[in-house]
Amino acid sequence: MEIINRRQRMSSVARKVRRDQDQTIGLVPTMGALHEGHLSLVREARRMCDVVVVTVFVNPTQFGLDEDFAHYPRDLTKDAARLTDYNVDYIFAPSIEEVYPKDFATYVTVGGLSEQLEGAARPGHFRGVATVVAVLLNIVRPDFAFFGQKDAQQTLIVKRLVRDLAFETEIVVLPTIREESGLALSSRNAYLSEEEKRAAVILSHALTRAKEAYKAGERSGSRLVETVRATVAGEPLARLDYVSVTDADTLENLEKLDDRTVLIALAVNFGKTRLIDNIVLNRKKNGGSAAAS
Ligand code: PAJ
Repeated sequence: MEIINRRQRMSSVARKVRRDQDQTIGLVPTMGALHEGHLSLVREARRMCDVVVVTVFVNPTQFGLDEDFAHYPRDLTKDAARLTDYNVDYIFAPSIEEVYPKDFATYVTVGGLSEQLEGAARPGHFRGVATVVAVLLNIVRPDFAFFGQKDAQQTLIVKRLVRDLAFETEIVVLPTIREESGLALSSRNAYLSEEEKRAAVILSHALTRAKEAYKAGERSGSRLVETVRATVAGEPLARLDYVSVTDADTLENLEKLDDRTVLIALAVNFGKTRLIDNIVLNRKKNGGSAAAS
């Protein structure tokens, strides 16, 4: 395994792999502080591709001014040790200047999809995500890039970016990895106190309750929203930011649920820590939904 810091070195290594060795490349973009969620993506990349590149880059442009960029957990030594166990070929861990050279002025905005849910709560967030993903895809030019369903809206935005700008990478979306309690793994869980961590299972509980209501025949979007809202309200440490019931492909709000695939997504604050989670209902079996994995 080689750790690469320079974009030029990364590009030339990837070019050599593609041209001279005719091998497929899998890219797993991350911000580090790796956990089993990230590693599930790495495992699938290892299974599907000849050469695996994991990027570790805490991307400043996707953080708001009042967000946790400065405090985001960083430990490249520990991350590299974990990735060695997974037989990763290259870690790309560039500095900010390598990704955003002096006078950087070109940003990618995926219209519509970026403005709702997380986009409404975190203005500019998805412009930062789409821009860094575009830069990483251009540097590495992978055959496949792997993303987690945990960030459902991010997967839709990346898929649209790839389609609209004709990147030759196939986006692979993999299921959310959870603790036994149901809590979705997240680098931000490290910010939680023991008490907050116990309380944070309320996100998955609320989604499970909505799923049960759906299974029992509930087809009203606003009543499903209310189920989630009421469940989160029962946890004193939790402050609901938003909950939405939308079409899983377009993120259009749904009131009457029909045969479309549904995404229920929520964001909840515990003190200064903001967690997100989601669930997909009525997923089409044969990849009919863009959110399907
Ligand atoms: P990060 O939060 O580090 O996540 C990297 C990838 O891991 C994302 O595709 C995310 O959806 C996935 N992931 C996180 N938690 C997961 C879980 N519990 N189960 C399955 N997958 C999980 O997402 C980002 O970084 C950034 O926005 C990035 C795409 C790297 C651009 O900067």
